[in-house]
Amino acid sequence: MLNINAAEQLSLFDLKSRSQSKEIGQFFTESKTADYMASMLHSIDNAELVKILDAGAGEGILTTSAARRCLEIGNRRVHAVLFEIDKDILTALEENMDQLVRIFIKKSGKFSYEILNEDFVLSRPDKHERDFHISVINPPYFKYNSKDSVYSGATSDLFKGNPNIYASFMAVVSSCIVSGGQMVAIVPRSFTNGLYFKGFRSYLQSQMSLERAHIFRSRNRLFKNMGVLQENIICKFVKSGQQPNIEIWSSTCSEDLAESEVVRYPQELIIDGSNRHNIIRIPESATDSHILRLVEDWPSSFEENNYYISTGPVVEFRTREFITANAQKNSIPLLRMHNVKAFRIEWTGKHWKDAHFILKKGHEKHTRSNKVYVILKRFSSKDEKRRLVAGIHDSKQFKDHLIGLENHLNYIGVKGEDMDIPEAFGLAALFNSTFMDRYFRSISGNTQVNATEIRLLKLPIRDQIISIGKEVQRVKGYEQSTVDEIVQSTLNIRDI
Ligand SMILES: C[S@@+](CC[C@H](N)C(=O)[O-])C[C@H]1O[C@@H](n2cnc3c(N)ncnc32)[C@H](O)[C@@H]1O
Repeated sequence: MLNINAAEQLSLFDLKSRSQSKEIGQFFTESKTADYMASMLHSIDNAELVKILDAGAGEGILTTSAARRCLEIGNRRVHAVLFEIDKDILTALEENMDQLVRIFIKKSGKFSYEILNEDFVLSRPDKHERDFHISVINPPYFKYNSKDSVYSGATSDLFKGNPNIYASFMAVVSSCIVSGGQMVAIVPRSFTNGLYFKGFRSYLQSQMSLERAHIFRSRNRLFKNMGVLQENIICKFVKSGQQPNIEIWSSTCSEDLAESEVVRYPQELIIDGSNRHNIIRIPESATDSHILRLVEDWPSSFEENNYYISTGPVVEFRTREFITANAQKNSIPLLRMHNVKAFRIEWTGKHWKDAHFILKKGHEKHTRSNKVYVILKRFSSKDEKRRLVAGIHDSKQFKDHLIGLENHLNYIGVKGEDMDIPEAFGLAALFNSTFMDRYFRSISGNTQVNATEIRLLKLPIRDQIISIGKEVQRVKGYEQSTVDEIVQSTLNIRDI
């Protein structure tokens, strides 16, 4: 056994300031998690020498686990190439690799290595070396500015867009791997959906088959000792065309990996091939996968129902001169996140956060017609129970012909017509239902509700939505259980 444990891994981290660590995305993997990731590797046949690629090696915990796994599965000759940009960490990395050399000798094997103190993305090793069999990575993650970052355009030959450095790492690693080679990555879940990662997903799916994804039901516990709040997943890919099945593994956190649950799904259920977004959907349980299937079978869609969704046009820091706390003769209500409650908008102008938008010159591009809208909050906080909260903006609530909608809100209407109140109730009930909230969690790891995802939703036909709305209008108080019952009985949803 190697003598590397989480505490030792942490010691070096402690020497650096947290901000410096964040800049280079330096959060180390616990040894338990590293071993678990390596356990996903299957044996490599027909290779005299197995080549491991470590991109952002840190102290080498992942190569250590991967190399040990190679011994276990009968591959005794291993060569590792390790990229690490932080020179302060190289001595520890070298020591850990030397320890591996000794372990392999003891087991009558041979381990060799090469450490490259280079930027993995800018070096683009895939331009000359594409024969790696294995790569187990925990890449850095941070967004970069597409205008002035050195990384901007560095991987534009592979995929379009500059979403986050971890995607560039995964793309270059995928490109370095031999056909049939394996990549295991612990990364934020954000790449599985969302517009920013569309180009990356498409590239990844053209190269790699997703074999297994592991999710942690308790968010934020993986790197909790580092103060990192991030929903991470572990995924295993094999370089080949997409295979017919994908396994979803789940555990509460890294403590109970040994008791993980596993369900095998047909790939069509996990990778949404119905549009060009290739969203990867991850059901947390058998019930969630049942919900996914039910929604897939709905006869219509958001677009087919002729709905539109847009983001509130008022970006407050750009429109300060229009916003006021006190009513003026020519001001209208400005709806913000706190005004949106399930099925209603609560704006009196008296709450200290309630704001007014002044209709002075240039207001047109920031204001919208005062019509009936379903208003969806774009963000929920990490500890909020629900992701989806839909209020109804009834045009009669305010006398003005215009309304202000802040940028943290999405508003939904019907193209070319005014939405009726019962339809608004029906749509809001659907979004506010437990059923839809669970569906949404499967398709999105973010606490953000993006207009793109809503636009791609399958939906019941409008008549059914209106029926739901009429029923919900009849009940008082909109209790969650009553709303759920109405939605599920109208749509004939059972066994949830
Ligand atoms: C999230 S840490 C993971 C470290 C290690 N693989 C582990 O699992 O504990 C990412 C590592 O990548 C390194 N890194 C960041 N940007 C890099 C780059 N552009 N090229 C190479 N290494 C980089 C950081 O210094 C850090 O050690």
